[in-house]
Amino acid sequence: MKKVGIIVGSLRKESINRKLAEVFIKIGHSKLDFSFIDIHNIPLFSEDLENTSLPAIDVFRQKISESDLILLMTPEYNRSISGVLKNALDWASRPYGKSCLVGKEAAIAGASIGSSGTLPAQVHLRSILPVLGMKQIQHSEVGIVWNETFLNNNGLPNDERTIQFIQKFLEQLAQ
Ligand SMILES: Cc1cc2nc3c(=O)[nH]c(=O)nc-3n(C[C@H](O)[C@H](O)[C@H](O)COP(=O)(O)O)c2cc1C
Repeated sequence: MKKVGIIVGSLRKESINRKLAEVFIKIGHSKLDFSFIDIHNIPLFSEDLENTSLPAIDVFRQKISESDLILLMTPEYNRSISGVLKNALDWASRPYGKSCLVGKEAAIAGASIGSSGTLPAQVHLRSILPVLGMKQIQHSEVGIVWNETFLNNNGLPNDERTIQFIQKFLEQLAQ
């Protein structure tokens, strides 16, 4: 069983990226064990604080350490990733030499309401994975253009081909 820690790069209550992650969990895979790694309580990063023990950061780092793979759910903000996601990754990457991200598998997915479906943001995110020491696994590009008809009443995508695409993505995560 592979432990997948999901970081949602949005603090919004009705976040579509959180909803997309919930779709992944609902579709599921026999070899994947999902849990959310919450970033709501993470303060703004300052190097002045990086050696201080802060409960929210200790829990955050611990949950990353316990995960085999980190699934980064990125919104698209002005064609890049959200500040809160970058802030969380900066915390996890420090102090220098003690990053809990090094050697972790990483995967990326996202949803936006614009036609780009977060793919430009995903390019930015992918470009920082090597410096974080993370290994992006090979997988399909999951960039969802979200609208109010995306989900049916059961919380699954209306389009059967989208469900099959997500199943293929989850199979790639499980490898
Ligand atoms: C500051 C800001 C910038 C945005 N820039 C983009 C963008 O470049 N492309 C896009 O498709 N949507 C953009 N959006 C709209 C987001 O796709 C939309 O707000 C989405 O719901 C954010 O994800 P979330 O629901 O998980 O928070 C932007 C939203 C905000 C607040």
